[in-house]
Amino acid sequence: SMTTPNTPATPTASDRWHYLLDATGRDLHAEAKALRQAGPAARVILPGGIPAWSVTDPGLIRRLLTHPLISKDAYQHWPAYYRNEIPADWPLRIWVDVRNALTAYGEEHLRLRRPLASAFSPRRVRALAPQISAITSTLLDELSITGSDEEVDLRARFAWRLPLQSVNLILGVPDELHDEARDVVAPLFITTASPQEGQAVIERLYELIAKLIGYKRRNPADDITSKLIAACDAGEINEQELADSFVLLIGAGHETTVNAIDHAVVNLITHPEQLKLAMSGTVPWSQVVDECLRHQAPVATVILRFAVQDVHDADTGITFARGDALAVNYGAAGRAPDVHGDTADQFDITRTTTREHLAFGHGAHLCVGAEIARIEIRTALEQLFTRFPGVRLTVDPDQLEPLPSIITNGHTRLPVVLGPAA
Ligand code: HEM
Repeated sequence: SMTTPNTPATPTASDRWHYLLDATGRDLHAEAKALRQAGPAARVILPGGIPAWSVTDPGLIRRLLTHPLISKDAYQHWPAYYRNEIPADWPLRIWVDVRNALTAYGEEHLRLRRPLASAFSPRRVRALAPQISAITSTLLDELSITGSDEEVDLRARFAWRLPLQSVNLILGVPDELHDEARDVVAPLFITTASPQEGQAVIERLYELIAKLIGYKRRNPADDITSKLIAACDAGEINEQELADSFVLLIGAGHETTVNAIDHAVVNLITHPEQLKLAMSGTVPWSQVVDECLRHQAPVATVILRFAVQDVHDADTGITFARGDALAVNYGAAGRAPDVHGDTADQFDITRTTTREHLAFGHGAHLCVGAEIARIEIRTALEQLFTRFPGVRLTVDPDQLEPLPSIITNGHTRLPVVLGPAA
């Protein structure tokens, strides 16, 4: 049995002890450590009372994510779900209810992923690098109007806006819908919401998507949104798949990179000697970005996957029974001591294992936005620290408030003073 000092264990039908995940995400890394101590995968209770496994071991994650009998489709492969045993008001339902690439299996997955992957292909997004750079410098121009010793929330004023504007370039979301898109996405990731709050957000989300589709039907352009609408009109994807592909694109495109920039800024401000190595080019930016993603996986945990049949992992001796639900703990994987050594918890851009992280996932569902995210993060850091070399936090790093979530790993605010512009 497993118990931990700060979390009550909860008995379940299976007669085993499960670790109750902290819905408030107060200390994801401490929780990950406790889970790791319970083995490569631990039995947990998700927010809302749903039993699952939390998989923390990088080797096991890689094996499961390339296993043909591990699915993300609850409609086909989660008996508790298709037998209506999951409460209708489970606050995290949206993560399995949606019908898009993220929740599809096999051929269906390929059909739904292909158009997204082509829109965000490395070749296409590299061509956008100059525009991403221009967006970044405009945001910094706007910030420079703030007094050099006045507090600004860098998450709201910078970290949020850069990904929003960059991804919206590719999606073709008109400027007037940007703020609304931002407002409906962030609450989707909060795992402390009440069922009522959860429902309200989902209604607003689908209203926004209806507006976006309506706008694009009237103003078609050479963008992924117009292409998906055309695919829907041609019968290649249905109406729900069309709407839910936007849920995925705006959710994955907007929230994740914000966290990456947020944590990267904190880590570089609090490790000035490493910032120097990055700014002087001694350590390449690509390596800095990887270490940021390893140390603070922006998507800490992805829910859910399901065992299509009993899946026995010979290396660990664990059997995942048919229908078992799996949460993949990418945050824990980035801190695995057997990969990164005793210093796994420390931020160190010079370590030799910076690239050994799973922050973009692995296997068939590997992030399609990895290249644009890397360009955004690098551009954000390079320009921010070049323009405002004296930028500093106004609170102790320990005082930064984590987002109330087991899924998304960022802060509610990032209060800084910029200092004089260079
Ligand atoms: C630092 C930023 C980002 C991180 C850490 C991240 C992380 C991830 C992870 C972990 C997955 C795999 C989910 C799973 O386990 O199944 C994923 C999938 C995905 N990501 Fe990202 N992502 C980022 C940025 C983006 C951006 C900018 C986009 C662009 C819209 C994007 C679009 C997607 C899509 C469409 C998928 C689903 C792929 C599939 O299921 O086949 N991501 N991402």
